[in-house]
Amino acid sequence: MALYSEKVMDHFRNPRNVGSIENADGVGEVGNPVCGDIMKIYLKINDDQIIEDVKFETFGCGSAIASSSMSTELIKGKPISEALKLTNKAVTEALDGLPPHKLHCSVLAEEAIKSAVKDYYDKNGIEYDPADFPEEHDCEHCCG
Ligand code: FES
Repeated sequence: MALYSEKVMDHFRNPRNVGSIENADGVGEVGNPVCGDIMKIYLKINDDQIIEDVKFETFGCGSAIASSSMSTELIKGKPISEALKLTNKAVTEALDGLPPHKLHCSVLAEEAIKSAVKDYYDKNGIEYDPADFPEEHDCEHCCG
């Protein structure tokens, strides 16, 4: 079996939603201290709390790029509440799997989206449940 699924290769070679959004409503940036990779997510959110647009910039490995691309596809057009529920597991499943030593790359996508939503809440003075935003980089998730 190939190390990477066709979906991973597709999203790595043709990443969706690459770039930035000017005047984004929320921006989240996270890094993995182990590998040094960085992921930045930009959100455009409308008055109905729907993610109208999402873009990403990822400086990282192929799995991180594929995870960013897939996660933007999964949250585009969705309410914020759904984006907050997106787990790295769901991103990995949507990619038809990642090799075990690459699972941590998908954690970056989950964290970057959460961080962008938190930025949106902070900028707009919206109250939120801190439990939705665990401390960045949960090393239990991360196999390094
Ligand atoms: Fe760093 Fe994949 S090796 S995110």
